[in-house]
Amino acid sequence: MKSGDETRSMRATAIAHPNIALAKYWGKRAFGHNLPAVPSLSVTLRGMATETTVELDGALSEDSLELNGEAAAEGPRRRVAGLLDRVREKAGIKTFARVTSKNDFPTASGLASSASAFAALAVAASNAAGLSLSPSELSNLARQTSVSSARSVLGGFVELERGEPDQSFLAANQVAPLDHWDLAIVVAVTREGPKDVGSSEGMQHTATTSPYFPAWVENAPSTFETIKEALLARDFDALGKAAEHSALAMHAAAIAARPAVVYWTGATVEAINGVKRLRADGLPAYATIDAGPHVKVITRKAQAETVAEKMRAIPGVLRTIVTEPGGAARVVGTE
Ligand code: DP6
Repeated sequence: MKSGDETRSMRATAIAHPNIALAKYWGKRAFGHNLPAVPSLSVTLRGMATETTVELDGALSEDSLELNGEAAAEGPRRRVAGLLDRVREKAGIKTFARVTSKNDFPTASGLASSASAFAALAVAASNAAGLSLSPSELSNLARQTSVSSARSVLGGFVELERGEPDQSFLAANQVAPLDHWDLAIVVAVTREGPKDVGSSEGMQHTATTSPYFPAWVENAPSTFETIKEALLARDFDALGKAAEHSALAMHAAAIAARPAVVYWTGATVEAINGVKRLRADGLPAYATIDAGPHVKVITRKAQAETVAEKMRAIPGVLRTIVTEPGGAARVVGTE
């Protein structure tokens, strides 16, 4: 027999934005709890959003997931169900959910990571289940499924420490609000095509087979500190240099895995060299690269359009997306 609450349909919709890490997370600690091996620092981005509706329905016999209008594959559905299980446990309910999620940005933009997806899901699911969680609790909930999504729960500039070995609660913190600094990110899209090796899989393979992974883990905390200090001091060159180093060190560790995890294409290298030329021309521009071939240029709002135009002239750059710091994940509707 179901309780009254479980037969009632409860529904909430939330939106969350993607984020770009300036200090990269790559690799998990070996202790379980989905803890990152290194601290990371990101900027949440405006202008792009994942919108997710969670409807708890006593008539369902399992959780269902629709992504951008299509029934999702079993892998993503199970990942979503894992987060929902934790919400149900907290709320003391057993009701399954119908989850519908859509991105208002193209999936091949290189920004369609799990970050905005699981941040929106954590906010919508906990709300639908009648829980009122703090931003830290929401961030921890999202982090247990996807580490980068812990950062997308918050707006502006956000850090996530790596936590202690047996720590089970780990949440991101806002380092500075979105209006702290006039940074912009220009995404140079270099491929519209097929998916890369997923980040969870790529980092796991790096951690277990790359001889450079221990060096990455040892070096990353000091790069993170440099980035955080440069952000707080609004020192653009110090931030850009360290952010570029963080990305290149992460990729160096992945490239040294066996077999290699190479996310770059020729266009990625052209774009990195193009960013260097922009700097030589006096423009504020540093590159960062995630688990894909696209190059994201860290620049200033005033120069973002010029940077985008120059990036589009680089062979292999198909188009650009200009974006700025954005706000936290939030509920946009309940029923
Ligand atoms: C390269 O957060 O997608 O974007 O924790 O396994 O879900 P899981 O991985 P994910 O990894 C993101 C990796 C990155 C760098 C970053 O965002 O810090």
